[in-house]
Amino acid sequence: MAQDICPLCNGIGFKILLRDGISGAERCECALESRAARLEEQAGIPLLYQKASFDNFSTTSKDNEMARRELSEIRMMVMTYANKFPSESQPGLLLIGEPGTGKTHLAVAALRRIIDKGFPGLFFDYQNLLDRIRSGYNAASGASDREAYRFAMDAEVLLLDDLGAHRVTEWVEDTITSIITYRCNNKKPLIATTNLPDADAGDAIVRRSPDTAGQIEYRTTLADRIGGRARSRLFEMCRVVKMPLVEDYRLRKSAAM
Ligand SMILES: Nc1ncnc2c1ncn2[C@@H]1O[C@H](COP(=O)(O)OP(=O)(O)OP(=O)(O)O)[C@@H](O)[C@H]1O
Ligand SMILES: [Mg+2]
Ligand SMILES: [Zn+2]
Repeated sequence: MAQDICPLCNGIGFKILLRDGISGAERCECALESRAARLEEQAGIPLLYQKASFDNFSTTSKDNEMARRELSEIRMMVMTYANKFPSESQPGLLLIGEPGTGKTHLAVAALRRIIDKGFPGLFFDYQNLLDRIRSGYNAASGASDREAYRFAMDAEVLLLDDLGAHRVTEWVEDTITSIITYRCNNKKPLIATTNLPDADAGDAIVRRSPDTAGQIEYRTTLADRIGGRARSRLFEMCRVVKMPLVEDYRLRKSAAM
């Protein structure tokens, strides 16, 4: 099939413009669009979230009025972060909240908006990244695994999804600390999501257990899983957004079907 040739620039990617009587070249929209499309393809966004945007993030629900209002404020805040990207003081974004409250959806919406502005971004699932880095030490593994660590360090914008999920080992703590420290020291933007509680984000880290007759229970915190140093740098470099207690969107969707 013949490719459509852009009528504005005849496929050259530049337009010649006349300004104050002087002609000059400017990148055509088609070149910008195709760059954004290419960057989006390379970002590694999982299929389920490839269409996630601010427009299809719903803030109307049966939830209580306050949670709903908070949700639309958060949507606005994350959208502003993406629109004004990059910000000098706090280049990162950390979304904390319960499962199914829309953290990954919003994080991807922000990443896609940032990519749309021409910044290369990379999506990494935390567990998957660690698995790849670990297997990268194995001589038999592929080049892409060996490079995962470098990718996470060097990506212009990194989305680290589900930070702190599963397993804690000294190795994990060291690896994640080195990635976050490197990015923080070099002011490289990081967008992260987690469902681990953190006292500084207003989470209760002690609660009465529902299954052991109301005994006091200590919840595993973000710092427990990624270590105090990574956690502290993360808070320093990120705008921290706490998701409201809305109903799990996955359950809500399956109930509606
Ligand atoms: N407000 C919303 N409007 C539209 N879709 C939503 C909304 N919140 C969540 N979803 C959708 O529901 C599903 C679950 O949301 P998401 O994965 O963002 O939750 P999460 O907070 O990241 O959960 P987890 O902590 O388990 O990773 C996704 O398919 C997402 O697109
Ligand atoms: Mg998620
Ligand atoms: Zn063109």
